[in-house]
Amino acid sequence: MKIISEISELGQAAAALLAGDLVIFPTETVYGLGANALDATAVTKIFSTKGRPSDNPLICHLTSMEQIEQVSPEVSDLTYRLFSCYAPGPLTLILPKLPEIPSVVSAGLPTVGVRIPDHPITQEFLRLVGVPVAAPSANLSGKPSVTAADYANSDFADQPAVKYLIDGGRARIGIESTVLDVTGEQPTILRPGKITAEQIRRDLNIEVVYASGSAQTPRAPGMKYRHYAPEAPLFLVQGNSDEIAQCILQVLTDKNIYTGNVGLWLPKALMKEVKCKILAMRPNLNLTLADYGDMVEATKRLFAQLREFDLHNCNLIFAFEESESEAGHAYLNRLLKAAQS
Ligand code: TXA
Ligand code: MG
Repeated sequence: MKIISEISELGQAAAALLAGDLVIFPTETVYGLGANALDATAVTKIFSTKGRPSDNPLICHLTSMEQIEQVSPEVSDLTYRLFSCYAPGPLTLILPKLPEIPSVVSAGLPTVGVRIPDHPITQEFLRLVGVPVAAPSANLSGKPSVTAADYANSDFADQPAVKYLIDGGRARIGIESTVLDVTGEQPTILRPGKITAEQIRRDLNIEVVYASGSAQTPRAPGMKYRHYAPEAPLFLVQGNSDEIAQCILQVLTDKNIYTGNVGLWLPKALMKEVKCKILAMRPNLNLTLADYGDMVEATKRLFAQLREFDLHNCNLIFAFEESESEAGHAYLNRLLKAAQS
């Protein structure tokens, strides 16, 4: 795999993608592992390289709204309004699929996910290739998504199908796009992201609902898989610093952990007291501390932090379960999935 970061080097990566190889590229949400969406053989390599189940469909990445005609037969008024407001940006729309898009891209569904990512080097890359680029997040299946080139490199360095990694720095948002299905009666968010239902209602006066829970068959097939999981078990804690410390100490006692390394991912306001209370009772423990100021920062750093705890060989990780809020909705969704895995 060759790592590049200059616009002048994009031509080589574009040629590799058009020749059927895989290219990792940055976006504002997370890095993507891309293939030419019109080439079924190339797209198949994504699934084998990631270890991704073949019934989990991929998003097609485009450079502009004009390019939608390569993947979908129509641009409805609703699609036009949504993309006019949010593209380029962290919004994926589920649209009817053209037959030219091989069924391996959509996992056999008659629909296709479409997104116009907001990252200057990737905009240029997509313009150069001129074809829709099918891409999932650039992580091995089940692992936390990738928000910086180093993590993509560590997941895929020894994979011959991946020819280029475009390093575009740290992802600005840090979790994946909002997936909004506009093929049914009611626009439905299948995966929450930075763009919320409330925001779409405020900005465009369009009524959008969240897909209801786990009881029904998942409509975004990706909702049913093991996700975002660090190697170490992840526990969620709530309450004030006393309650959090109590809860952590109880888990440590239950698991007979008196030495070793434990990761803490907490709001800044809680970290110091929780740390002191734990070390008072468990002086031989090694704590790996990571704190955040607000939801934007927590969201941006979550996936990288989960990977960092693993790199520090943590035996257990404790993270604060934020209460539900519009700004924290997507963050909490990913955190809960990481903890359930
Ligand atoms: O921000 C993002 O969306 C990143 C960057 C790379 O663009 N991509 C990403 O891809 O997160 P992936 O494959 O990790 O997640 C795609 C999600 C999955 O939950 C998948 O099931 C859903 O989108 N999806 C894709 N096509 C679909 C379709 N036709 N119908 C329903 N859900 C679909
Ligand atoms: Mg993913």
